[in-house]
Amino acid sequence: MTRGRFITFEGGEGAGKSTQTARLVTWLRERGLDVVRTREPGGSPGAENIRDLVLNGPPERWSPTTELLLMYAARADHLERTIRPALAAGSWVVCDRFADSSRAYQGAAGGIDMDFIERLDAAVVGNDQPDLTLVFDLPVEVGLARALDRGGAEARFESKGAAFHQRLREGFADIVAAHPDRCRIIDATGDPDAVFARVRAVVEGVLA
Ligand code: TYD
Repeated sequence: MTRGRFITFEGGEGAGKSTQTARLVTWLRERGLDVVRTREPGGSPGAENIRDLVLNGPPERWSPTTELLLMYAARADHLERTIRPALAAGSWVVCDRFADSSRAYQGAAGGIDMDFIERLDAAVVGNDQPDLTLVFDLPVEVGLARALDRGGAEARFESKGAAFHQRLREGFADIVAAHPDRCRIIDATGDPDAVFARVRAVVEGVLA
């Protein structure tokens, strides 16, 4: 059985990742591929429980270190129960956020030491790194305006202010620069059709 491919979507708030994830999954399935669509934090029953813990409650509920460990606890379960079995069975896995969100949110924007994150990542994710990571990039003001329009209960991460989101954007840019073989920037401005055309071009080019 040929191992499936693992594609992750990353970026700041309001970048339209969820819409684009859904569109890529539909497009891949139309090509006859078996695709598992999943997300982080979450993606398995245990990891979804951890998601409720980490995304709800007051902004200062968890320290950045605790938050990072909760993200990686959820990620360990998600890999064990969902991602690794799917890839081994030959399915493609398309995941809305993965470890680069920990690097950007808890590391670049949250101030956690990047070496600590990399050691944790080596232990938990190991060789199961994504084959391709699409990083959706948007000016901070545009992303925040879109996220606020959307509303929703999970406001804890969306209430941190423009400076946080600027560090986040720079953090993602640094991740792309550090992993040029795995990561591609997607310009997330414009309408969903225009953005999806960029997504498709990258996926066709890289995974052909
Ligand atoms: P979600 O509602 O899924 O946000 P979005 O639509 O922006 O993807 O909430 C996920 C939040 O969790 C998001 O603000 C990013 C944050 N997060 C981290 O801080 N670290 C992580 O490792 C992951 C996976 C997510």
